[in-house]
Amino acid sequence: MTTAPASFVKGLEGIVAAQTEMSFIDGVEGVLEYVGIAIGDLAKHSTFEETVYLLWNKRLPKKQELEAFTKELRANYALPDGMLDRIRTVPKQAEPMHMLRTMVSALAMHDESPNDNSVEAAREKSLKILGCTPAIVAAFDRHRRGLDPVAPDAGLGFSANFLYMLNGEKPTDAMTRAFDICMITHADHGLNNSTFTARVVISTLSDMYSAMTAAIGSLRGPLHGGANEGVMKMLNEIPTVADAEKYVMDKLAKKDRIMGFGHRVYKAKDPRAAELMTLAEQLARDTGNMDLYEKSHAIELVMEREVASKGIYPNVDFYSATTYHCIGLKLDLFTPMFALSRIAGWAGHVIEQLDGNRLFRPKAEYVGPHAVAYTPIDKR
Ligand code: SDX
Repeated sequence: MTTAPASFVKGLEGIVAAQTEMSFIDGVEGVLEYVGIAIGDLAKHSTFEETVYLLWNKRLPKKQELEAFTKELRANYALPDGMLDRIRTVPKQAEPMHMLRTMVSALAMHDESPNDNSVEAAREKSLKILGCTPAIVAAFDRHRRGLDPVAPDAGLGFSANFLYMLNGEKPTDAMTRAFDICMITHADHGLNNSTFTARVVISTLSDMYSAMTAAIGSLRGPLHGGANEGVMKMLNEIPTVADAEKYVMDKLAKKDRIMGFGHRVYKAKDPRAAELMTLAEQLARDTGNMDLYEKSHAIELVMEREVASKGIYPNVDFYSATTYHCIGLKLDLFTPMFALSRIAGWAGHVIEQLDGNRLFRPKAEYVGPHAVAYTPIDKR
């Protein structure tokens, strides 16, 4: 019996599988920086467009650089011809994440050189995918509601344009700013599962669309981006704030996972959760949803008492659920919102991977039998 090679690590926990200049995470201290800038500073002072420029160019833009980048992104808001017809063929009861994964994959068929992995081409594809996925999500949601799509408005920023296409009316500044903070805080996060997936795919020199499609598939999982929808379902299951304690204790007793808590890297409160908690409270107060915020806070207090000692704290998904609900988004659009933002991080990592690429090909430890004779079928 061969002994297990020392290198086998389940879930690659703690293994460094890539280098990046985009986001730095200190899981013990609860620190997240994008190119060295604290996420709290970006959430307070930046915009999603500026944050994307920072991640992709490894520095903040000068004024005219940001104006030029914003113009480039807005030039990519519109869907390629034929995409709206394709979206109209999607069954209305389809899950938005399955629709989004399929439509991002379809974008490759509208690209004259889908397999071009030069830096310039990868950058153009990144802008194209980032720019038009809001229109994909908005058009599908309106389609399933029996409404015509709303064409993008290149006079609006990324966040305002999405909310405008979704609702058919210009959003308030407060809602636009809230959505932009969600986009900023979800843009990149080290080698999370969906980002690792994108890197693994592009490491075969496949293409940006295949990498993004695979990443969306990963993000849908409830242990990853799908958790924000799980948090909302949990909040809806708890009748009143007074019921939160019993609900959580019953779940913990059954060893069930409380969605929106815990993290492979953070063993302190996720700094994004802190930013989104402040935003969620403000929005809940402004929109008459304080019960959601108070339930969330009650859950957090119970979890702090029961499992903080195990390093289990709120993660980015816990308060994003209340925020998205207060902005007026349907529950099954929460994870697609995560995807709209994380396309920025995925694209940046794809371009980093292409620069000095090495095919990902880890080993599997064989634990089956050896030297087994072949038994003819009539003798089995
Ligand atoms: C995201 O990687 C990233 O950066 C991801 C992300 C990003 O920006 O890309 O930050 C976004 O995906 C955030 C995570 C969203 N997922 C959830 O909220 C789902 C609920 N959380 C978990 O399932 C869990 O915490 C994970 C998957 C996030 C991390 O799990 P690990 O690192 O594999 O930890 P584990 O499963 O080994 O758990 C360790 C212990 C266990 O207890 P014991 O068996 O040792 O007694 O902690 C417990 C677990 O039962 N535990 C939880 C818990 N998470 C872990 N107990 C209750 N509720 C939870 N949420």
